[in-house]
Amino acid sequence: MIFASGVGMTYGKAALATRVLHDVSIAIPRGQLALLTGPSGSGKTTLISILAGLIRPTAGSVDVCGHRLTSLTEAENARVRRDHVGFVFQADNLFPALTAVANVAEVLRLRGLPRKAAGPVARAALARVGLADRLEHRPGELSGGQRQRVAVARALASRPSLLIGDEITSALDGATALEIMQLVRAFVTGDTAAVIVTHDHRLERFADRIIRLEDGRIVSDTSQEPS
Ligand SMILES: Nc1ncnc2c1ncn2[C@@H]1O[C@H](COP(=O)(O)OP(=O)(O)OP(=O)(O)O)[C@@H](O)[C@H]1O
Ligand SMILES: [Mg+2]
Repeated sequence: MIFASGVGMTYGKAALATRVLHDVSIAIPRGQLALLTGPSGSGKTTLISILAGLIRPTAGSVDVCGHRLTSLTEAENARVRRDHVGFVFQADNLFPALTAVANVAEVLRLRGLPRKAAGPVARAALARVGLADRLEHRPGELSGGQRQRVAVARALASRPSLLIGDEITSALDGATALEIMQLVRAFVTGDTAAVIVTHDHRLERFADRIIRLEDGRIVSDTSQEPS
């Protein structure tokens, strides 16, 4: 599902250049839930942004769902994201003027679902993250953890092939974090995969694989049976 080879990333130019990823190669097959861990500043957000086609690496190649992102235009990258990838960002990125249900429905409509169908699908997605009673609240009227759950509902509602998430449980209490991880686990089947950045060791048991990044390099990559 994801195949990245020799990925390097340098932000800035000349004297200001900062190299944040060094020769990262990684293959994530269908059916896998991978966690990406590592200290602050180690390059986790940069790496998943590259895997999602949001930013272009300065070296190497990235293939996602059979598309070579690093050879495509920005517009083509956007199309691959729209058709295949669901994201949850570190900062939740909701539309502040829209209610929870409209936040989810709007993204479904961008993906081609008719308005009539988008509403019920959005409500069902929010019910699955425990927000059936907050459908009409705007982001400013929700707690941080509730906003994060809207973001997860929004990413999963369009049934992407690949879920990419950045600290999706950081604002959640332990029980809610585990519920969200169970949803992610249930999302990953033979046809789908997920890469989730986290510092939360309690989530590790849900993963098929734990990849650790330090100073822009993969320093360990461990496969396990989830429990
Ligand atoms: N747009 C940018 N321009 C310049 N440097 C950047 C940019 N974005 C990130 N960096 C730098 O790249 C390095 C890696 O950042 P990144 O956000 O990928 O880390 P992270 O592992 O996600 O950290 P955290 O756990 O704190 O979220 C950091 O040193 C950061 O300062
Ligand atoms: Mg980050």
